[in-house]
Amino acid sequence: MISLNILEITYLIASITFILGLKMLSHPDTARKGNLIAAAGMLIAIVATLTLYQEFDSGKGLNYGLIFLGLAVGTGIGTVMAKKVQMTSMPQMVSFFNGMGGACAALIAIIEFQHHQHATVSGFDGELLVMLLGLLIGSVSFSGSMIAYGKLEGKIKDKVLPMNQAINMFLLAVIIVLIGIQMFNGSDPLFFYGLLAIALIYGILFVMPIGGADMPVVISLLNSFTGMAAAFGGFLYGNKAMLTGGILVGSAGTILTILMCNAMNRSLTNVLLGAFGAGSAGAAKTGSGDQTVREISISDTAVLLSYSQSVVIVPGYGLAVAQAQHVCHELEKLLEEKGVEVSYAIHPVAGRMPGHMNVLLAEADVPYERLQEMEEINPRLANTDVVVVIGANDVVNPAAKNDPSSPIYGMPILDVDLAKNVIILKRGMAAGYAGIENELFFYPKTRMLFGDAKESLQKLAAEVKEV
Ligand code: TAP
Repeated sequence: MISLNILEITYLIASITFILGLKMLSHPDTARKGNLIAAAGMLIAIVATLTLYQEFDSGKGLNYGLIFLGLAVGTGIGTVMAKKVQMTSMPQMVSFFNGMGGACAALIAIIEFQHHQHATVSGFDGELLVMLLGLLIGSVSFSGSMIAYGKLEGKIKDKVLPMNQAINMFLLAVIIVLIGIQMFNGSDPLFFYGLLAIALIYGILFVMPIGGADMPVVISLLNSFTGMAAAFGGFLYGNKAMLTGGILVGSAGTILTILMCNAMNRSLTNVLLGAFGAGSAGAAKTGSGDQTVREISISDTAVLLSYSQSVVIVPGYGLAVAQAQHVCHELEKLLEEKGVEVSYAIHPVAGRMPGHMNVLLAEADVPYERLQEMEEINPRLANTDVVVVIGANDVVNPAAKNDPSSPIYGMPILDVDLAKNVIILKRGMAAGYAGIENELFFYPKTRMLFGDAKESLQKLAAEVKEV
């Protein structure tokens, strides 16, 4: 009994560390510590379960060999993947790990179903309902996350089946019927495993047609599904740490989904049914009017920047690819020394994951106060002398404001076209993630500085020192 109480207390402590950790993750200065605190809470919960659980499980005993094997394999794979992953491949990894969480939740439901099958339950079978929901949501999250992983890795292409939405609606109806049958007629393995199969297919068909640019929203939604599925596991076992962890992941994922939809000015229904960005690579548009691209040299850029009063840097995915954050910070410091006011304009979906640019710039020790959110900086851009766009494309594409036929029409962008001068650092004229051309590159006030962002910035920093 004492062990049981201690176990419950450790779960409470773990739950508190999850909440504290999540709170600390909301600011770059405390994020690392928050992550460690939550991980320590999870470690406490695992150790306590392994050492204290046995006593109130009426001596059934735990299969320590299998548990430690699972722990060793999971820890090994997780550590290697986390150490090897490139910053630009983080969304894929998040999606992969999320899928594993969904699979675990579904496996819990399957194992517990086998115990539950032979139980006689009179009246409403709440436990069965929790299992069915855990199985459904966990399986959808697993198969959906694996498809999202494949898409972000470039291994799976966007594919819209004929009548995809109708098929999805039909599958949803079948899922509801299968759950209904089991709730009213008692658990039956045939219907249970039928539900598993259909949920897996639904997850695939649900994510398959969604356009590349909408992937972050989908991943975040699937993340919240996994959280919910884990919370159902917490209900099943009466495990408060699992329940709190699941609820936190579920609600954080839901909030992030809403925030990202708002950032793109779209409703969730529109994201899920609209296939935004899908197949748009073929729909490249040519800039209207004057099609001339104007280049600028390193030395002219250095002079322009050094004699400006205000410079705004717009980081994008290319900055991450080039790993140019450190040299970017160096350039910023050189300009500040010359009395230039420098800030960074952060678009909510710049890069390939939520907060990508914040993480990247924090890695280079860029002071957080220098980072300005889109809403804050946009009204100031008209009075900015030079905007330097480093490896960003879609997030500064004026087609989002001007071209109703554009697949990104309606997405709020950084209004860099309002600044007095725009300098774009990129390697060539390639499109961004949404696969569409950017008319900003052809504007008279725009100058292109072609080359890898890191190399260009290194040369630029050297030149600015000489000015
Ligand atoms: P993108 O529109 O993807 O454009 C990146 C640009 O960087 C490319 O046009 C590329 O042009 C350039 N680039 C690549 N490597 C470079 C290098 N080494 N040096 C210099 N330039 C380089 O990036 P963005 O403006 O950040 O927009 C993000 C896009 O990704 C949005 O469409 C968003 O919806 C989507 N997305 C966002 C997320 C999240 S949550 N942030 C997740 C998934 C997808 P060149 O090849 O010509 O150099």
